[in-house]
Amino acid sequence: MKLEEQQQKLGIFKRLTRAVQTGLSVKLLILTAIFVLIAEILIFVPSIANFRNDWLKEHLLTAEAASIVYLDTNDLMLSEGAGKDLLEATEAITVAIRRDGISRLMATSGKTGDITQHIDLDNSTAFGSIRSSMSMLFAEPTSQYRVFGTMRSSHAIMELVQEAKYIQASMWKYARNVAFLSLLISIFTAALVYLALYRLIVLPIIRISSNMDEFSKTPQNASLVYKPTKRLDEIGTAEKRLAAFQGDLQQTLRQRQRLADLGLAVSKINHDLRNILASAQLFSDRLTSLPDPTVQRFAPKLIKTIDRAVDYTKSVIDYGRALEAPPKRRKLILNVVANDVADLLGLENSLAIRWRNDIPLDLQADADPEQLFRILMNLCRNAQQAMIDANLEGRDKVLTVSAERLHNEVHIKVCDTGPGIPDHVKEKIFTPFEGSTKSGGTGLGMAIVMELLKAHGGSISISKTDETGTEFHLIIPDQA
Ligand SMILES: Nc1ncnc2c1ncn2[C@@H]1O[C@H](COP(=O)(O)OP(=O)(O)OP(=O)(O)O)[C@@H](O)[C@H]1O
Ligand SMILES: [Mg+2]
Repeated sequence: MKLEEQQQKLGIFKRLTRAVQTGLSVKLLILTAIFVLIAEILIFVPSIANFRNDWLKEHLLTAEAASIVYLDTNDLMLSEGAGKDLLEATEAITVAIRRDGISRLMATSGKTGDITQHIDLDNSTAFGSIRSSMSMLFAEPTSQYRVFGTMRSSHAIMELVQEAKYIQASMWKYARNVAFLSLLISIFTAALVYLALYRLIVLPIIRISSNMDEFSKTPQNASLVYKPTKRLDEIGTAEKRLAAFQGDLQQTLRQRQRLADLGLAVSKINHDLRNILASAQLFSDRLTSLPDPTVQRFAPKLIKTIDRAVDYTKSVIDYGRALEAPPKRRKLILNVVANDVADLLGLENSLAIRWRNDIPLDLQADADPEQLFRILMNLCRNAQQAMIDANLEGRDKVLTVSAERLHNEVHIKVCDTGPGIPDHVKEKIFTPFEGSTKSGGTGLGMAIVMELLKAHGGSISISKTDETGTEFHLIIPDQA
């Protein structure tokens, strides 16, 4: 039971500390209270100095009142009884007056001691008053100080010597009252400021963020689009922008859904078409066995055309499978991958094309082996097809793959001595379905290359293309 209670308490404590650490409203409340308290302290210190000066002036005034009677006599000092009363009333050890250039001691208790401070009330500055008030507040209670100042009505200079304990008692009492009052005011002001900030800032932010949460769960739901208030300030602008953004997003999502539906329909049609074409392929294969010379002449062309159609539908279906899987990267020997590509394309034994693999044997790339294979395959096949298809009588047809490492990047170059890429193809070579010039090509090869490289954080560019050949430049950075 005890353990449960402790765990419960710990849970509450953890929730509280989390609220303090994360909650904007709690942070605001604490900060406002601290700032108001700082402002109160700034007022509190000078007000103590002011209180002290008033207290001293009050005592000098009491002494001045007694001096009116005393000045009428020619006595050196007040009588013993009157002197005692005056010392009591002014809480002083000594009372003196200076008028018309003559100083007279009115009363003294006879107590002696060192005077630690001389306070001239006529020439005191604000800063000096604060400093001497503070040292007085913490002085030895029995220490003595001397205070004097000119009286406004009689123009006499009154002077008192007092022990610190009386003024200290009054000052501490005043300080306690003011401190208590300051605390009350700071709590009250902090609460007011907090309430205002809560309504003006925190509440709208909570509304906005909870709307964002809800919206992100079902962004298609039109009723969840934020309804902005009529505010004209920054929060109002943020609300309006959020509403506009959510509206745009819903429209984009609707468009995307339509495109996805369309893509699915195309894929289905393609799929069935491929099956039909496969049957046609089967029948046309049989045609080749017929002895009819006309059939013998046209059958290979028919077969080639159907083969192309099957390839085409297959590529479209592959592309329609939408997103490529994220690359599974590892260190691989680039030279080996390039040789695999050449092997598949029959380049190593090709009589028409000379294959050169200039990649250093120890060069490693940080990439998905399967995807890198597809990248190089597409590029090499394009170069191979371009050199075979074009009329390049007498030219040495060479396909070269080279690579080097620069810091954390591997730079690969695929270079051919083909006819070059025409300008109108170059512009849209990386756009799916648009870059192809071949009768059987789908125009997806380069788009796929670009997509796979981007997934690796890399890039591709055409570093050279003219009538003497083409060079592609690929960059594959290592993983961060
Ligand atoms: N090395 C090259 N030399 C000349 N032209 C090229 C070269 N590489 C690409 N091309 C041109 O760019 C076009 C687009 O290439 P891409 O690989 O995207 O499509 P494709 O080869 O036509 O079709 P597929 O999707 O079957 O690869 C090609 O049709 C070709 O005209
Ligand atoms: Mg291609």
